[in-house]
Amino acid sequence: MKILGIETSCDETAAGVVENGNRILSNVVSSSAEIHAGTGGIIPENAARQQIMMIIPVISRALKNADLKIKEIDAIAVTVGPGLIGSLLVGVETAKTLSILFDKPIVPVNHLLGHIYANWLEKEKGRPDFPLLALVVSGGHTDLVYVESHDKYAWVGGTRDDAAGEAFDKTARLLSLPYPGGPSISKAAEKYSTNPKKNINLPRPMINENNFDFSFSGLKTAVLREVQTFKKLEKNDIFQISHETQEAISEVLIEKSIRAVKKYKVRSFLLGGGVSANKRLAEALYERVKEENLKVKTYIPIPKYCTDNAVCIAACAYYIYKPKAYKNISAQPELSLRN
Ligand code: KG4
Ligand code: ZN
Repeated sequence: MKILGIETSCDETAAGVVENGNRILSNVVSSSAEIHAGTGGIIPENAARQQIMMIIPVISRALKNADLKIKEIDAIAVTVGPGLIGSLLVGVETAKTLSILFDKPIVPVNHLLGHIYANWLEKEKGRPDFPLLALVVSGGHTDLVYVESHDKYAWVGGTRDDAAGEAFDKTARLLSLPYPGGPSISKAAEKYSTNPKKNINLPRPMINENNFDFSFSGLKTAVLREVQTFKKLEKNDIFQISHETQEAISEVLIEKSIRAVKKYKVRSFLLGGGVSANKRLAEALYERVKEENLKVKTYIPIPKYCTDNAVCIAACAYYIYKPKAYKNISAQPELSLRN
């Protein structure tokens, strides 16, 4: 079964074709991040305008790269939420129009669930086993989800305020590093040479609390306080603060996830969403699993499938396969995994 995926929840316009939930026939992503770098963050109207300009060229390119005509597609999958309403509407209305015109089933997909299914794409070490635990860490969400089967999941915990990606983005802004903040912080942290002017100890919010929740807004305030203690931020100070921020975020994410892995006795642990592209987070997670000799298969998508794309949306649609009448499909900006 060949599914055309469409993803327009934020600042990426993406389309791709996936066969049987894992074989990628094409993957096209057009990002407007550079435009948002100019404004220091996303202005929703600008993102939506870019979506409108790019949606048709991106879908055409995805079909061309897969060497397919739309008639040969079996179904269309589209992200219906969460996301920015203006951006979402472009993908949703385009998908509905294609579905009517070419008489194709249409499968609405929760973007956050889509991030989890990036772990089914072209996997050499086999597919994840159920039951599994997934940590979705994106620009707007931080959620721990227990997944029993393709059609049954339960939310276990999540952030009470800022998302992990948001913490990266806001810290980057405080340090005058470019948008998106995650990759900028990661690059700066790699350059940190360990002889700082002074020690910086950032908090690990909620790390000792007996729950699976997170809180990252205090971290941003702690970074701001640190920044204010410097007369002038030199390059190595920025590298140091980036390094410490990355350590603090990674440590909390890993600690809470590992506790959940043990409590729920899952067979696989999956990461997904833009922040899972962070090299240090991946490295620290693999180290921890090894150190504790945990019998859990750990999956992290390759970076281009961590950040927003349409192939993970198409993969998700294949496994959950619940087509709906186009009349019953609408953009849902507030959709979540908290069922
Ligand atoms: O999943 P995603 O591409 O879009 C949303 O659904 O939000 O995630 C975007 C988030 C941004 O906050 C971005 O700064 C972060 O993922 N991100 C990273 C890295 N690459 C992207 N965070 C840390 N390290 C990275 N390498
Ligand atoms: Zn995302």
